[in-house]
This record gives sequence, C-alpha cells and structure tokens, in this order.
Amino acid sequence: MVKAIRVPRKKGEAMRRKLSSLGILDADYFPSHDEKYVYFPVVKGLRGYKSVEVQARGREARKGFKEMLSGIVGKEAEGIFSSYDIVGDIAVLEIPDNLRAKEKEIAEALLKADQKIKVVLRKEGGMEGEYRVRRFSFLAGENRTETIYVEHGVRMRLDLAKVYFSPRLSHERGRIAENVKAGETVLVMFAGVGPFALVIAKKQKDAKVIGIELNPEAVRYFEENIELNGMEGRVEAVLGDVRKVVPERFAGFADRVLMPLPKSAEDFLGVALLAAKKGGTIHFYTFVNRKDGKGAAERKAIEAGNKAGRKIEIIESREVRPFSPSTVQIVVDFRAI
Ligand SMILES: C[S@@+](CC[C@H](N)C(=O)[O-])C[C@H]1O[C@@H](n2cnc3c(N)ncnc32)[C@H](O)[C@@H]1O
Repeated sequence: MVKAIRVPRKKGEAMRRKLSSLGILDADYFPSHDEKYVYFPVVKGLRGYKSVEVQARGREARKGFKEMLSGIVGKEAEGIFSSYDIVGDIAVLEIPDNLRAKEKEIAEALLKADQKIKVVLRKEGGMEGEYRVRRFSFLAGENRTETIYVEHGVRMRLDLAKVYFSPRLSHERGRIAENVKAGETVLVMFAGVGPFALVIAKKQKDAKVIGIELNPEAVRYFEENIELNGMEGRVEAVLGDVRKVVPERFAGFADRVLMPLPKSAEDFLGVALLAAKKGGTIHFYTFVNRKDGKGAAERKAIEAGNKAGRKIEIIESREVRPFSPSTVQIVVDFRAI
C-alpha cells in the first residue's frame, strides 16, 4: 500500500499539477480512481488534504514484469500479462497449460519486478461449490493465501483459498455505494467477506447495512473487517442462508437489496423481493448469453415480480464485465413496487 492524496475527480487535473510542481507526486506509481475520487500516490502528505492508503500499481514494476515475461514466453506474454490479478500483496496468475513448465520462472520474475508482491499463486480452475471458492497452486514467495486488500479506503482481510473474492468488482461496488442515500437500510445478500457492505458504509455514514453469508469462514473475516474499519453498529454480518434468514428477520426491511451471487441468482429473486420495502431498489446480478443481451436479464426480474405479485420498474441494466467469450455478467437495477 502507498500513501495517496484523495480529491474529487473534477479537481484531479489541478491537483496533479499542484502535486507535481511541489515535487510530492510519487512517480513510481500510477494514480487510480473510482467513481468519485482520484487517488494520487505521494511521497509525503499535503496539509489540508486527506491522505489515504491505497493499493497502487508501480509503473516500473509492471513494465519490468512485462519485459521479463516477454523474455520467458515470447508472444504469449500478453495473455498472462492482461489476465493477472493483484489482491493485497498476492498476485494471481492464469497460466495456460502449454506454459506450465515455465510457471515458476514467470512467478519469480513477477516477485523480482514488483517488490510489493510477496506471494504468487496460480488459479486452478473456476469457482466451485455453494461458497464459490477457487483452488490455487502456490508458485513463489511466501506460502500463504491470506492477505489484506484495500479498496475505496476500506481494509479487508481475507483468505483467497477459503472465501470468494474478486478485485474486478471494485468499480461496481463504488457505483452502488454512490447511490445509497442517508438513512437507507441496505441488505447485501451473498455478502462474502463484506466488500459491498463495507464500501457502502464507508461512503454513506448514515446507512444501516446488513450482510448475509453462508460460508462461516467468510463471515469470520467479514466480522473482523467490520472491526478493522471501525464500523461496528453500522454494519452487521449475519451467518446463514438468505432463504432462511430473510423470512425470519428481514422481511420488508430494506430500501435497497444487493444480489451479488450471480450464478443462479434468479432462484433468489423471490427472497430479495420479500426483503425489499414497497418502492425498494434491487440490484440483481446475473449471467446471460451475450447474444441474448440485457433483455434476458430484465425478463428474469419481471417474471419474479409477477410471481410475487409485485410490479417491477426497471431503472437501468448494464454489463458489469465479460465472463467468458459467450457469457456476460449483467446487473439489473429495478424498483419493486
Ligand atoms: C460470488 S460470491 C460474492 C461474495 C461477495 N458479495 C463479493 O463480492 O466478494 C457469492 C457468495 O454467496 C454465498 N452464498 C451462496 N449461497 C448463499 C445463500 N443461500 N445464502 C447466503 N449466502 C450464500 C457464497 O458463500 C459466496 O460467498
């Protein structure tokens, strides 16, 4: 993590010039941004401006890794380079089968190029089981799978081998959090270690956020992360199956319901509708065939509404990210009347 000055996006360019002229800008790292703010890595703080700890990509580190990778695998470097993720101080690589003989060499190159990375893992297949956990192989560095990840100013401890986690949803978490208004009650179904819940609570101090999660390991981290961010009393982690917990405790509770499952999420739309107040907003994540488009996702929401006797008003639906060549992840934001 590096120290960064945070400013609203519209003030970004002016701040970049200011930091640069003061010689404070840390040229070794890329600035980053979310929906609202730009984060400029700095070598020291600047009076009058909030500084935060962020995870920043080192310019030289990335360049260095790409060069080394090209030296090891030639033209195939691009595929590996464009698909690796960094979660805290752990790098996760996707190595095609034909390059497995070189995987240790690739991992060592990454450690050498990027001093911030302490562990290199390789993805073993996709997400598995009800808890959506992935298996990893250890490639280089320290032999562990636990780390601390920072996003939108929120710190999260998590173990990649025990819980679901994806840094690729960071932008989406920022987008949802921006929409949450003061006084809202928010229910995050399928909450994992708490990223959606914690980012919302970070951006909207006056919201009550509940996260429900089935995996006990994820709930243990979620509770720890609530404490780590001083959000006790504002965020609550609940262990259990949403199909049981919602009817028991949260029927008609929420101004906003999040459904970041997204595999088979349509099976849970009835529960989400039960949790949503009249006029409440539901964010429904689902996979659809690319050629069927957003309409297919919207129809799932409307069908569930018909079944529950609730009128559905679609606010917006968008592609969140491509999932495979034929499948895309869509979010449908809708109001349940
Ligand atoms: C794709 S992950 C999303 C986790 C988290 N929202 C995130 O973005 O990191 C889905 C999560 O839902 C949990 N889950 C699956 N079925 C559930 C159920 N019936 N009730 C509550 N949680 C469930 C899994 O254990 C998993 O952690």
